[in-house]
Amino acid sequence: MENAKLNLGNMVIELPLVTGTMGEQAIDITNLRKDSGFITLDSGYQNTGSCKSAITYIDGEKGILKYRGVNIEELASKARFTEVAYFLVNGKFPDNGERLEFSQQLTENSMLHEDMIKFFHSVPPTAHPMSILSTMVNAMSIFYPQYFVDENDGEVFKLMASRLISKIRTIAAFSYKRSIGEPLVYPRHDLPYVGNFLNMMFDSPVKPYESDPDMERLLNMILILHADHEQNCSTSTVRLVGSSLVNLYSSVCAGICALWGPLHGGANQEVIEMLERIRNENLSIKTVLERAKDKNSNFKLSGFGHRVYRNFDPRMKILKQEAQSFLGNRKLDDPLMNIALELEAAALKDDYFVERKLYPNVDFYSGILYREMGFPTEMFTVLFAIGRMPGWIAQWKEMHDSVPFKIGRPRQIYTGPTEAHYPG
Ligand code: CMC
Repeated sequence: MENAKLNLGNMVIELPLVTGTMGEQAIDITNLRKDSGFITLDSGYQNTGSCKSAITYIDGEKGILKYRGVNIEELASKARFTEVAYFLVNGKFPDNGERLEFSQQLTENSMLHEDMIKFFHSVPPTAHPMSILSTMVNAMSIFYPQYFVDENDGEVFKLMASRLISKIRTIAAFSYKRSIGEPLVYPRHDLPYVGNFLNMMFDSPVKPYESDPDMERLLNMILILHADHEQNCSTSTVRLVGSSLVNLYSSVCAGICALWGPLHGGANQEVIEMLERIRNENLSIKTVLERAKDKNSNFKLSGFGHRVYRNFDPRMKILKQEAQSFLGNRKLDDPLMNIALELEAAALKDDYFVERKLYPNVDFYSGILYREMGFPTEMFTVLFAIGRMPGWIAQWKEMHDSVPFKIGRPRQIYTGPTEAHYPG
Protein backbone atom coordinates (compact mmCIF):
# COMPACT_ATOMS: atom_id res chain seq x y z
CA MET A 1 0.00 0.00 0.00
CA GLU A 2 1.56 3.30 -1.08
CA ASN A 3 -1.26 5.67 -0.15
CA ALA A 4 -4.07 5.81 2.37
CA LYS A 5 -7.49 6.82 1.03
CA LEU A 6 -9.62 9.16 3.10
CA ASN A 7 -13.33 9.41 2.20
CA LEU A 8 -14.66 12.89 2.98
CA GLY A 9 -18.23 13.16 1.63
CA ASN A 10 -17.83 12.93 -2.13
CA MET A 11 -14.08 13.49 -2.02
CA VAL A 12 -11.47 10.79 -1.85
CA ILE A 13 -8.17 12.15 -0.64
CA GLU A 14 -5.03 10.15 -1.22
CA LEU A 15 -2.49 10.48 1.56
CA PRO A 16 1.06 9.12 1.19
CA LEU A 17 2.33 6.60 3.73
CA VAL A 18 5.70 7.01 5.37
CA THR A 19 7.69 4.16 6.91
CA GLY A 20 10.61 4.64 9.29
CA THR A 21 13.75 2.52 9.37
CA MET A 22 12.37 0.47 12.30
CA GLY A 23 9.06 -0.11 10.50
CA GLU A 24 7.00 2.61 12.19
CA GLN A 25 4.22 3.85 9.92
CA ALA A 26 2.64 7.24 9.41
CA ILE A 27 0.07 8.89 7.17
CA ASP A 28 1.53 12.05 5.67
CA ILE A 29 -1.10 14.80 5.96
CA THR A 30 1.13 17.67 4.82
CA ASN A 31 -1.25 18.57 1.96
CA LEU A 32 -4.52 17.59 3.66
CA ARG A 33 -5.83 21.11 4.25
CA LYS A 34 -4.73 22.34 0.84
CA ASP A 35 -6.44 19.40 -0.89
CA SER A 36 -9.58 19.08 1.26
CA GLY A 37 -10.04 22.08 3.60
CA PHE A 38 -9.84 19.73 6.60
CA ILE A 39 -7.30 19.72 9.40
CA THR A 40 -6.72 16.95 11.94
CA LEU A 41 -7.47 17.31 15.64
CA ASP A 42 -5.25 15.49 18.12
CA SER A 43 -5.29 16.82 21.66
CA GLY A 44 -1.97 16.27 23.45
CA TYR A 45 -0.46 15.21 20.07
CA GLN A 46 -1.07 11.58 20.97
CA ASN A 47 -1.01 10.45 17.34
CA THR A 48 0.94 13.24 15.72
CA GLY A 49 4.44 12.82 14.36
CA SER A 50 5.93 16.30 14.31
CA CYS A 51 9.11 15.43 12.40
CA LYS A 52 11.30 12.73 10.93
CA SER A 53 14.31 12.14 13.15
CA ALA A 54 17.40 9.92 13.06
CA ILE A 55 18.40 10.53 16.68
CA THR A 56 16.40 8.40 19.11
CA TYR A 57 14.19 5.36 18.68
CA ILE A 58 11.72 4.07 21.26
CA ASP A 59 9.61 0.93 21.03
CA GLY A 60 7.18 1.52 23.87
CA GLU A 61 5.61 -1.94 23.62
CA LYS A 62 8.92 -3.78 23.90
CA GLY A 63 10.68 -1.33 26.23
CA ILE A 64 13.45 -0.52 23.72
CA LEU A 65 15.40 2.75 23.69
CA LYS A 66 18.23 3.42 21.25
CA TYR A 67 20.34 6.49 20.53
CA ARG A 68 21.24 6.52 16.84
CA GLY A 69 20.82 2.74 16.71
CA VAL A 70 22.76 1.86 19.87
CA ASN A 71 20.84 0.26 22.73
CA ILE A 72 20.68 2.35 25.89
CA GLU A 73 21.92 -0.60 27.99
CA GLU A 74 25.13 -0.73 25.94
CA LEU A 75 25.78 2.99 26.22
CA ALA A 76 24.93 3.10 29.91
CA SER A 77 27.37 0.32 30.75
CA LYS A 78 30.25 1.30 28.45
CA ALA A 79 30.27 4.93 27.40
CA ARG A 80 31.20 8.25 28.89
CA PHE A 81 28.51 10.92 29.01
CA THR A 82 30.64 13.33 26.99
CA GLU A 83 31.08 10.70 24.24
CA VAL A 84 27.32 10.14 24.15
CA ALA A 85 26.79 13.91 24.01
CA TYR A 86 29.15 14.16 21.03
CA PHE A 87 27.50 11.15 19.38
CA LEU A 88 23.98 12.59 19.74
CA VAL A 89 24.92 16.04 18.46
CA ASN A 90 27.30 15.00 15.65
CA GLY A 91 25.88 11.64 14.58
CA LYS A 92 29.16 9.77 15.10
CA PHE A 93 31.38 8.77 17.98
CA PRO A 94 34.43 11.01 18.29
CA ASP A 95 37.81 9.67 17.14
CA ASN A 96 40.79 10.40 19.38
CA GLY A 97 41.43 13.85 17.91
CA GLU A 98 37.76 14.84 18.10
CA ARG A 99 37.49 13.54 21.66
CA LEU A 100 40.44 15.67 22.70
CA GLU A 101 39.10 18.74 20.90
CA PHE A 102 35.62 18.33 22.45
CA SER A 103 37.08 17.78 25.88
CA GLN A 104 39.18 20.94 25.52
CA GLN A 105 36.12 22.89 24.40
CA LEU A 106 34.18 21.71 27.45
CA THR A 107 37.05 22.66 29.73
CA GLU A 108 37.59 26.08 28.15
CA ASN A 109 33.89 26.87 28.38
CA SER A 110 33.21 25.71 31.90
CA MET A 111 33.65 29.13 33.55
CA LEU A 112 30.86 31.70 33.77
CA HIS A 113 31.33 35.34 32.87
CA GLU A 114 32.08 37.17 36.14
CA ASP A 115 29.15 39.54 35.57
CA MET A 116 26.87 36.54 35.26
CA ILE A 117 28.10 35.31 38.61
CA LYS A 118 26.90 38.56 40.23
CA PHE A 119 23.39 37.40 39.43
CA PHE A 120 23.73 34.49 41.85
CA HIS A 121 24.30 36.95 44.68
CA SER A 122 20.98 38.69 44.08
CA VAL A 123 18.90 35.51 43.87
CA PRO A 124 16.95 34.70 47.04
CA PRO A 125 18.30 31.49 48.59
CA THR A 126 14.77 30.07 48.43
CA ALA A 127 14.66 30.22 44.60
CA HIS A 128 14.09 26.87 42.92
CA PRO A 129 17.27 25.84 41.05
CA MET A 130 15.23 25.11 37.90
CA SER A 131 14.12 28.75 37.72
CA ILE A 132 17.72 29.87 38.22
CA LEU A 133 18.88 27.42 35.56
CA SER A 134 16.40 28.55 32.92
CA THR A 135 17.11 32.21 33.66
CA MET A 136 20.87 31.76 33.45
CA VAL A 137 20.74 29.68 30.28
CA ASN A 138 18.67 32.39 28.63
CA ALA A 139 21.11 34.97 30.01
CA MET A 140 23.84 33.24 28.01
CA SER A 141 22.41 35.03 24.97
CA ILE A 142 23.30 38.31 26.74
CA PHE A 143 26.84 37.31 27.67
CA TYR A 144 27.77 35.16 24.67
CA PRO A 145 25.72 36.81 21.95
CA GLN A 146 26.13 34.67 18.84
CA TYR A 147 22.43 34.92 18.16
CA PHE A 148 22.05 33.16 14.87
CA VAL A 149 23.71 30.05 13.69
CA ASP A 150 24.86 30.50 10.16
CA GLU A 151 24.23 27.15 8.49
CA ASN A 152 27.69 27.32 7.01
CA ASP A 153 29.35 28.22 10.26
CA GLY A 154 29.65 24.92 12.06
CA GLU A 155 32.25 26.48 14.35
CA VAL A 156 29.75 28.88 15.91
CA PHE A 157 27.31 26.04 16.51
CA LYS A 158 30.06 23.88 18.04
CA LEU A 159 31.01 26.70 20.38
CA MET A 160 27.40 27.33 21.47
CA ALA A 161 26.81 23.61 22.01
CA SER A 162 30.01 23.21 24.09
CA ARG A 163 29.13 26.25 26.15
CA LEU A 164 25.71 24.87 26.97
CA ILE A 165 26.88 21.32 27.77
CA SER A 166 29.71 22.65 29.92
CA LYS A 167 28.23 25.70 31.63
CA ILE A 168 24.99 23.99 32.65
CA ARG A 169 27.05 22.08 35.27
CA THR A 170 28.57 25.28 36.61
CA ILE A 171 25.21 27.06 36.77
CA ALA A 172 23.63 24.04 38.49
CA ALA A 173 26.38 23.79 41.12
CA PHE A 174 26.47 27.57 41.73
CA SER A 175 22.71 27.68 42.29
CA TYR A 176 23.05 24.88 44.86
CA LYS A 177 25.93 26.59 46.65
CA ARG A 178 23.94 29.81 46.72
CA SER A 179 20.91 28.04 48.21
CA ILE A 180 22.99 26.71 51.12
CA GLY A 181 24.93 29.94 51.57
CA GLU A 182 28.36 28.45 50.83
CA PRO A 183 31.05 30.06 48.65
CA LEU A 184 30.92 29.13 44.97
CA VAL A 185 33.42 26.49 43.87
CA TYR A 186 34.84 27.29 40.43
CA PRO A 187 35.29 24.62 37.75
CA ARG A 188 38.69 22.94 37.64
CA HIS A 189 40.54 22.31 34.40
CA ASP A 190 42.13 19.08 35.63
CA LEU A 191 38.90 17.21 36.40
CA PRO A 192 36.71 15.22 34.00
CA TYR A 193 33.12 16.27 33.24
CA VAL A 194 31.29 14.43 36.04
CA GLY A 195 34.06 14.71 38.65
CA ASN A 196 34.30 18.44 38.00
CA PHE A 197 30.57 18.85 38.58
CA LEU A 198 30.62 16.80 41.80
CA ASN A 199 33.57 18.84 43.03
CA MET A 200 31.71 22.13 42.35
CA MET A 201 28.66 20.72 44.16
CA PHE A 202 30.23 19.11 47.19
CA ASP A 203 33.64 20.66 47.83
CA SER A 204 33.30 23.00 50.79
CA PRO A 205 35.49 24.87 53.28
CA VAL A 206 34.30 22.53 56.03
CA LYS A 207 34.65 19.26 54.09
CA PRO A 208 36.74 19.00 50.92
CA TYR A 209 35.23 16.81 48.20
CA GLU A 210 36.96 13.46 47.93
CA SER A 211 36.70 11.86 44.53
CA ASP A 212 34.40 8.83 44.67
CA PRO A 213 34.79 6.70 41.51
CA ASP A 214 31.62 4.71 42.17
CA MET A 215 29.55 7.86 42.50
CA GLU A 216 31.17 9.35 39.39
CA ARG A 217 30.44 6.18 37.40
CA LEU A 218 26.85 6.23 38.60
CA LEU A 219 26.22 9.86 37.76
CA ASN A 220 27.87 9.40 34.36
CA MET A 221 25.45 6.54 33.68
CA ILE A 222 22.40 8.46 34.93
CA LEU A 223 23.25 11.38 32.64
CA ILE A 224 23.50 8.98 29.68
CA LEU A 225 20.08 7.52 30.50
CA HIS A 226 18.58 11.01 30.35
CA ALA A 227 20.47 12.27 27.30
CA ASP A 228 17.63 12.09 24.79
CA HIS A 229 14.09 10.75 24.54
CA GLU A 230 12.78 11.76 21.11
CA GLN A 231 9.79 14.12 20.86
CA ASN A 232 8.80 14.48 24.53
CA CYS A 233 7.30 17.71 25.92
CA SER A 234 10.57 19.60 26.50
CA THR A 235 12.23 18.48 23.27
CA SER A 236 9.16 19.38 21.23
CA THR A 237 9.25 22.74 23.00
CA VAL A 238 12.90 23.26 22.04
CA ARG A 239 12.03 22.44 18.42
CA LEU A 240 8.90 24.62 18.36
CA VAL A 241 10.60 27.62 19.94
CA GLY A 242 13.71 27.07 17.82
CA SER A 243 11.60 26.91 14.67
CA SER A 244 11.07 30.68 14.93
CA LEU A 245 14.86 30.90 14.35
CA VAL A 246 15.49 32.23 17.84
CA ASN A 247 18.97 31.40 19.18
CA LEU A 248 19.95 28.03 20.64
CA TYR A 249 20.25 29.30 24.24
CA SER A 250 16.71 30.68 24.27
CA SER A 251 15.32 27.54 22.64
CA VAL A 252 16.96 25.34 25.27
CA CYS A 253 15.80 27.68 28.03
CA ALA A 254 12.21 27.01 26.92
CA GLY A 255 12.95 23.28 27.10
CA ILE A 256 14.21 23.64 30.68
CA CYS A 257 10.96 25.38 31.64
CA ALA A 258 8.92 22.58 30.08
CA LEU A 259 11.01 19.92 31.81
CA TRP A 260 10.36 21.45 35.24
CA GLY A 261 6.67 20.45 35.25
CA PRO A 262 5.68 17.53 37.51
CA LEU A 263 4.18 15.57 34.61
CA HIS A 264 7.58 15.64 32.91
CA GLY A 265 11.06 15.83 34.49
CA GLY A 266 9.75 17.46 37.67
CA ALA A 267 8.32 14.04 38.54
CA ASN A 268 11.66 12.95 40.03
CA GLN A 269 11.27 15.55 42.79
CA GLU A 270 7.57 14.68 43.19
CA VAL A 271 8.34 10.98 43.66
CA ILE A 272 10.60 11.58 46.64
CA GLU A 273 8.15 14.08 48.14
CA MET A 274 5.37 11.49 47.69
CA LEU A 275 7.45 8.74 49.34
CA GLU A 276 8.34 11.09 52.20
CA ARG A 277 4.66 11.93 52.70
CA ILE A 278 3.80 8.24 52.80
CA ARG A 279 6.46 7.68 55.45
CA ASN A 280 5.76 10.80 57.53
CA GLU A 281 1.98 10.38 57.51
CA ASN A 282 2.29 6.64 57.91
CA LEU A 283 -0.02 6.06 54.94
CA SER A 284 -0.72 2.50 53.87
CA ILE A 285 0.14 1.47 50.30
CA LYS A 286 -3.53 0.58 49.83
CA THR A 287 -4.60 4.13 50.74
CA VAL A 288 -2.08 5.63 48.32
CA LEU A 289 -3.24 3.43 45.45
CA GLU A 290 -6.89 4.19 46.18
CA ARG A 291 -6.11 7.91 46.03
CA ALA A 292 -4.20 7.51 42.79
CA LYS A 293 -7.18 5.72 41.25
CA ASP A 294 -9.73 8.23 42.50
CA LYS A 295 -10.37 10.68 39.66
CA ASN A 296 -11.64 13.31 42.14
CA SER A 297 -8.46 13.26 44.22
CA ASN A 298 -6.18 15.14 41.82
CA PHE A 299 -3.42 12.78 42.93
CA LYS A 300 -1.42 10.60 40.57
CA LEU A 301 1.26 8.12 41.40
CA SER A 302 4.36 10.13 40.57
CA GLY A 303 6.94 8.23 38.56
CA PHE A 304 4.27 5.95 37.09
CA GLY A 305 2.88 5.86 33.56
CA HIS A 306 4.30 7.04 30.29
CA ARG A 307 2.87 8.24 26.99
CA VAL A 308 5.11 5.91 24.99
CA TYR A 309 6.21 3.01 27.22
CA ARG A 310 3.42 0.49 27.60
CA ASN A 311 5.42 -2.37 29.06
CA PHE A 312 8.43 -1.10 30.95
CA ASP A 313 10.81 1.80 30.82
CA PRO A 314 14.30 0.37 30.16
CA ARG A 315 15.88 3.34 31.96
CA MET A 316 13.89 2.51 35.09
CA LYS A 317 15.12 -1.11 35.02
CA ILE A 318 18.74 0.02 35.05
CA LEU A 319 18.16 2.65 37.72
CA LYS A 320 16.30 0.25 40.00
CA GLN A 321 19.15 -2.28 39.79
CA GLU A 322 21.73 0.43 40.40
CA ALA A 323 19.80 1.81 43.38
CA GLN A 324 19.56 -1.65 44.89
CA SER A 325 23.26 -2.39 44.46
CA PHE A 326 24.33 1.10 45.60
CA LEU A 327 22.36 0.65 48.84
CA GLY A 328 23.49 -2.97 49.19
CA ASN A 329 27.20 -2.24 48.62
CA ARG A 330 27.19 0.58 51.12
CA LYS A 331 25.00 -1.35 53.55
CA LEU A 332 22.46 1.46 53.58
CA ASP A 333 18.85 0.93 54.50
CA ASP A 334 16.74 3.64 52.90
CA PRO A 335 13.13 3.51 54.14
CA LEU A 336 12.02 5.36 50.99
CA MET A 337 13.48 2.58 48.83
CA ASN A 338 11.46 0.03 50.79
CA ILE A 339 8.27 2.07 50.31
CA ALA A 340 9.04 2.47 46.59
CA LEU A 341 9.52 -1.29 46.13
CA GLU A 342 6.31 -2.02 48.00
CA LEU A 343 4.37 0.59 46.05
CA GLU A 344 5.66 -0.72 42.72
CA ALA A 345 4.83 -4.33 43.58
CA ALA A 346 1.31 -3.43 44.72
CA ALA A 347 0.57 -1.22 41.69
CA LEU A 348 1.76 -3.87 39.26
CA LYS A 349 -0.81 -6.27 40.73
CA ASP A 350 -3.64 -3.75 40.77
CA ASP A 351 -6.20 -4.02 37.93
CA TYR A 352 -6.34 -0.22 37.47
CA PHE A 353 -2.62 0.00 36.69
CA VAL A 354 -2.51 -3.29 34.78
CA GLU A 355 -5.43 -2.39 32.48
CA ARG A 356 -3.97 1.04 31.74
CA LYS A 357 -0.46 -0.37 31.28
CA LEU A 358 1.01 1.95 33.88
CA TYR A 359 4.56 1.04 34.91
CA PRO A 360 7.27 2.86 36.85
CA ASN A 361 9.16 5.30 34.64
CA VAL A 362 12.68 6.76 34.73
CA ASP A 363 11.76 9.11 37.57
CA PHE A 364 10.58 6.43 40.00
CA TYR A 365 14.00 5.25 41.21
CA SER A 366 16.32 8.04 40.04
CA GLY A 367 15.42 10.24 43.03
CA ILE A 368 16.40 7.52 45.48
CA LEU A 369 19.84 7.36 43.90
CA TYR A 370 20.22 11.13 43.87
CA ARG A 371 19.27 11.27 47.55
CA GLU A 372 21.77 8.61 48.47
CA MET A 373 24.43 10.46 46.48
CA GLY A 374 23.76 13.56 48.60
CA PHE A 375 21.79 15.74 46.18
CA PRO A 376 18.97 17.78 47.70
CA THR A 377 15.50 17.06 46.30
CA GLU A 378 15.21 20.42 44.52
CA MET A 379 18.29 19.60 42.43
CA PHE A 380 16.83 16.39 40.95
CA THR A 381 15.22 17.98 37.89
CA VAL A 382 18.37 20.05 37.34
CA LEU A 383 20.29 16.76 37.05
CA PHE A 384 17.75 15.61 34.47
CA ALA A 385 18.35 18.87 32.55
CA ILE A 386 22.14 18.41 32.60
CA GLY A 387 21.65 14.95 31.11
CA ARG A 388 19.10 16.10 28.52
CA MET A 389 21.14 19.04 27.23
CA PRO A 390 22.89 17.10 24.38
CA GLY A 391 19.54 15.71 23.24
CA TRP A 392 17.94 19.15 23.04
CA ILE A 393 20.93 20.48 21.10
CA ALA A 394 20.96 17.50 18.72
CA GLN A 395 17.23 17.85 18.03
CA TRP A 396 17.52 21.61 17.50
CA LYS A 397 20.37 21.07 15.04
CA GLU A 398 18.57 18.30 13.19
CA MET A 399 15.51 20.52 12.79
CA HIS A 400 17.60 23.42 11.48
CA ASP A 401 19.33 21.12 9.00
CA SER A 402 16.07 19.59 7.75
CA VAL A 403 14.66 20.30 4.33
CA PRO A 404 12.13 21.82 3.99
CA PHE A 405 12.47 23.85 7.16
CA LYS A 406 9.14 25.18 8.47
CA ILE A 407 8.17 27.26 11.46
CA GLY A 408 6.04 25.18 13.88
CA ARG A 409 2.53 26.55 13.78
CA PRO A 410 -0.38 24.21 14.60
CA ARG A 411 -3.96 25.11 13.73
CA GLN A 412 -7.12 24.88 15.84
CA ILE A 413 -10.85 24.40 15.68
CA TYR A 414 -12.43 27.62 16.90
CA THR A 415 -15.29 27.08 19.39
CA GLY A 416 -15.95 30.65 20.59
CA PRO A 417 -18.86 32.98 19.77
CA THR A 418 -19.46 33.67 16.10
CA GLU A 419 -20.17 37.34 16.66
CA ALA A 420 -19.91 39.54 19.76
CA HIS A 421 -19.66 43.31 20.43
CA TYR A 422 -17.85 45.68 22.74
CA PRO A 423 -20.28 46.65 25.54
CA GLY A 424 -21.57 50.25 25.31
N1 CMC B 1 -1.37 7.52 38.44
C1 CMC B 1 -2.68 7.25 38.32
N2 CMC B 1 -3.31 7.18 37.13
C2 CMC B 1 -2.59 7.40 36.02
C3 CMC B 1 -1.22 7.69 36.08
C4 CMC B 1 -0.61 7.75 37.35
N3 CMC B 1 0.69 8.04 37.45
N4 CMC B 1 -0.76 7.88 34.82
C5 CMC B 1 -1.80 7.71 34.00
N5 CMC B 1 -2.91 7.42 34.72
C6 CMC B 1 -4.24 7.12 34.19
C7 CMC B 1 -4.89 8.33 33.58
O1 CMC B 1 -5.60 9.06 34.55
C8 CMC B 1 -5.76 7.70 32.54
O2 CMC B 1 -6.89 7.14 33.22
P1 CMC B 1 -8.34 7.00 32.48
O3 CMC B 1 -8.08 6.15 31.27
O4 CMC B 1 -9.20 6.38 33.48
O5 CMC B 1 -8.73 8.40 32.13
C9 CMC B 1 -4.96 6.51 32.05
O6 CMC B 1 -4.07 6.20 33.12
C10 CMC B 1 -4.17 6.72 30.78
O7 CMC B 1 -3.23 7.74 30.96
P2 CMC B 1 -2.20 7.97 29.78
O8 CMC B 1 -2.94 8.08 28.48
O9 CMC B 1 -1.07 7.04 29.89
O10 CMC B 1 -1.63 9.36 30.16
P3 CMC B 1 -0.78 10.34 29.29
O11 CMC B 1 -0.05 9.67 28.22
O12 CMC B 1 -1.68 11.46 28.91
O13 CMC B 1 0.23 10.89 30.40
C11 CMC B 1 1.95 10.83 32.01
C12 CMC B 1 1.46 10.29 30.67
C13 CMC B 1 3.40 10.43 32.20
C14 CMC B 1 1.87 12.37 32.00
C15 CMC B 1 1.08 10.25 33.13
O14 CMC B 1 1.20 8.85 33.17
C16 CMC B 1 1.40 10.84 34.49
O15 CMC B 1 0.86 11.88 34.83
N6 CMC B 1 2.31 10.19 35.28
C17 CMC B 1 2.78 10.74 36.54
C18 CMC B 1 3.83 11.83 36.28
C19 CMC B 1 5.14 11.23 35.83
O16 CMC B 1 5.64 10.26 36.39
N7 CMC B 1 5.76 11.86 34.82
C20 CMC B 1 7.08 11.45 34.32
C21 CMC B 1 7.02 10.86 32.96
S1 CMC B 1 8.54 9.99 32.50
C22 CMC B 1 9.80 11.18 32.49
C23 CMC B 1 9.66 12.12 31.35
O17 CMC B 1 10.15 11.77 30.27
O18 CMC B 1 9.10 13.17 31.52
